[in-house]
Amino acid sequence: RLSGPAGEVIVDWYATAARDLPWRTPGVDPWAVLVSEVMLQQTPVARVEPVWRAWMDRWPTPAALAATPPGEVIRAWGKLGYPRRALRLREAAIAVTERHGGAVPDDVAALQALPGVGTYTARAVACFGHGQRQPVVDTNVRRVVARLVHGRAEAAPARASDLADISALAPRDDARAVRFSVAVMELGALVCVARTPRCGACPVRDLCAWRLAGYPAHEGP
Ligand code: ADE
Repeated sequence: RLSGPAGEVIVDWYATAARDLPWRTPGVDPWAVLVSEVMLQQTPVARVEPVWRAWMDRWPTPAALAATPPGEVIRAWGKLGYPRRALRLREAAIAVTERHGGAVPDDVAALQALPGVGTYTARAVACFGHGQRQPVVDTNVRRVVARLVHGRAEAAPARASDLADISALAPRDDARAVRFSVAVMELGALVCVARTPRCGACPVRDLCAWRLAGYPAHEGP
């Protein structure tokens, strides 16, 4: 049985329950993380994985992608959908090559200035790719915070306080805080899911404000 503050418990749970995804390999290149996050913006993990592998074999660096004509890039995007993302990723690779000497920047503001990179993707690359302590907030994370901290059934729309909410849960140790950012996303993707949350499998159910309040505004697990 796991115990301790919620953030620490979620990190320990991740060690036992996380999916083994190639872009989560320790020491993974930030470019590989950027490619994965752009692909995952609108496409499920299972469909992204084979395309990501082929992409990284073909274009292992931003400079390699930057030197490729747009038509080839679109073709390699295959059936991931929203193919404009492929063109923006190519433009981001050109910007990285021209403005950053070919190295994906580690600064959130510089990342966010790249084509197709919003606040979520910028923080994800800084955290998962560069090992920085960064709050990373997507819909899954907002739903976990809504339930665990605020006792509400559904994720609230994105708002400024999301970063403070998730930062307050993060472990003090930097390495654990980095893992926490991906761990809380994984909890939202695998356990604290929208329609049929698997509270029986949740490592922080005893700490969950939503559960303690009797699952208001939801049929319950
Ligand atoms: N791991 C890191 N980022 C992810 C994402 N966006 N979706 C699934 N797994 C991830």
